[in-house]
Amino acid sequence: MLENLPVVEGDPLWALLHQFNADPRSQKIDMLVGVYRDETGQTPVMQEVQKAELKLTKEAASKSYKMLSGNLEFNDHITKFVLGNNSPRFDEQCTIQTVGGTGALRVLGDFIAALSPQTVIWNTEPGYLNHRPIMEGAGLKVESFRWHHNGGILDIEQCFEDLAKAKEGDVLILHGSCHNPSGVDPLIDQWQQFIDFCVAKKVIPLIDIAYQGFGVGPEEDAAGLRLFAEQVDFMLVATSCSKNMGLYCERTGAAMVLSSDKSQHQPLRTLLERITRANYSMPPNHGSAVASLLFSEPEAWLKELSVCRNRINDLRLGLGKLLSEMGADQSLQAVTRQKGMFSMLPLTAEQMTALREKHAIYGMLNGRINIAGLKQEQVSYLANALIDVMK
Ligand SMILES: Cc1ncc(COP(=O)(O)O)c(C=O)c1O
Repeated sequence: MLENLPVVEGDPLWALLHQFNADPRSQKIDMLVGVYRDETGQTPVMQEVQKAELKLTKEAASKSYKMLSGNLEFNDHITKFVLGNNSPRFDEQCTIQTVGGTGALRVLGDFIAALSPQTVIWNTEPGYLNHRPIMEGAGLKVESFRWHHNGGILDIEQCFEDLAKAKEGDVLILHGSCHNPSGVDPLIDQWQQFIDFCVAKKVIPLIDIAYQGFGVGPEEDAAGLRLFAEQVDFMLVATSCSKNMGLYCERTGAAMVLSSDKSQHQPLRTLLERITRANYSMPPNHGSAVASLLFSEPEAWLKELSVCRNRINDLRLGLGKLLSEMGADQSLQAVTRQKGMFSMLPLTAEQMTALREKHAIYGMLNGRINIAGLKQEQVSYLANALIDVMK
């Protein structure tokens, strides 16, 4: 068997992270991995999460198996968080807890492959590094469509030029908010254009909402997804508590299937459960138990989340203002309009390498940086370095 072992390239992100850890320069800045960091550079456990964990430890509830769909209370909570508390679609969904947002995507990929193995998945370019491998891992074909912007506004004409080749039954992946890696989200009328496209072409939307609450706010960030839910009969959703609750390593997420045909709900759930049963049986419970407590009394957690969001938005505004005062290239200004942790710098791979080698600033070679990796005191260092490498 081992004679067939392929030479597989490692993940470029983790390779750069190793390089960062080994870099002895004290001024180094890690803008690589998509985790939130506070002003001290830490990724703290949220206070509300700590409180919930203490409560759960005291209660010491049984660790017996949960249902195949995971923690049912969590599933109801997260569905309401995503769709809105009063959404009429609450009665038309089938949600299972998954191993993070990645697990949700893979379960949905397997679900699509089980129902229609020839389905083509349409993925943004640039896009989330793992969408393609996940969907290809499920045996599906992946095509790309351009996700570029003019001054921070999505160039939707380009999207539709590429999507013209999409056929009935294909699946369109859109990021619910805070597009990774570009930070460019559709305006609400652009969401409507995507809906009109899906309805007209009978293309199935799969909304990956991994950053709800990191852009403008939890409600606002779900606006496009909810508009879809109002207007299409059938859609797929992958969601995660990794970022907005900081539960990264607890692997807490959910896969959701919305179908207006209620007679399909039981077979849909059975199929989803069969997919997970043949893989890891059921997801771990701890993160979902914590998340359920946060969802049931959300005020304090949402306040903590707003502190994270505001810090990122302040960094964006501060960086943009400084760059403009320093007469930096106009193309850098879009950083102020982008949403969430990520931005794509309009830099070549050579310029990103120079940023790393000359200035110890680590971003991805395609230009992606995690704004949350920055401290206020480093904003001017970054601005100067950007101007230097763009000279
Ligand atoms: C767009 C997108 N989807 C899904 C995920 C997966 O999140 P999780 O860590 O919950 O698996 C990420 C994580 O970076 C992401 O950026």
